[in-house]
Amino acid sequence: MEHKMHPDCLEIVYTQEQLTKRVAELGEQLTADYRGKDLLVIGLLKGSLIFMSDLIRAMDVDMTIDFMVVSSYGDSTTTSGNIKINLDIKRDLKGKHVLLVEDILDTGTTLSFIRDLIRLRHPESVKICTLLDKDKVVARKVDIQADYVGFPVDDRFIIGYGLDYAQKYRNLPYIAVLKPEAYA
Ligand code: IMP
Ligand code: MG
Repeated sequence: MEHKMHPDCLEIVYTQEQLTKRVAELGEQLTADYRGKDLLVIGLLKGSLIFMSDLIRAMDVDMTIDFMVVSSYGDSTTTSGNIKINLDIKRDLKGKHVLLVEDILDTGTTLSFIRDLIRLRHPESVKICTLLDKDKVVARKVDIQADYVGFPVDDRFIIGYGLDYAQKYRNLPYIAVLKPEAYA
């Protein structure tokens, strides 16, 4: 069932159908790469909620899952640069292959901070899977690349499929650009 576009949206960037198809492809690729490995998938909340829940069901491998609650934006549309860990994982990472799942890679501040933090705990490997990757040249402030990317996006503020503006719109089943009026 396709939803009607939310009135606060300017345009749809990726439809529910496109998301479903791409997540299935990523799931296949990850299945091949992690088969037989001791996999721990860590979702960064809240943004990765929807993507992660679809992605892990598209992966036909044994895994455990966990979550970290990280905030960087506050309620604005630009990165504050301040990463706050509101919930950390508590388990031992020795021997684990860690896959970090994120909604969007923008300046790179959040993921590079979290990746470094995870590395200090000596897992077997750490890789990054992000649904969306904002244009590197324009958006990135920290030199970091994801190992798995769903889709590229322009340097515009987008919402839906887990991504929010001021904690709203996470439930939209598509990725869309917000109308400028909606920021007011
Ligand atoms: P970074 O630290 O600048 O890479 O920002 C990553 C975080 O900022 C993501 O986890 C998102 O929560 C948020 N973010 C970045 N760009 C957008 C956007 O276009 N829409 C919604 N959230 C965004
Ligand atoms: Mg966010």
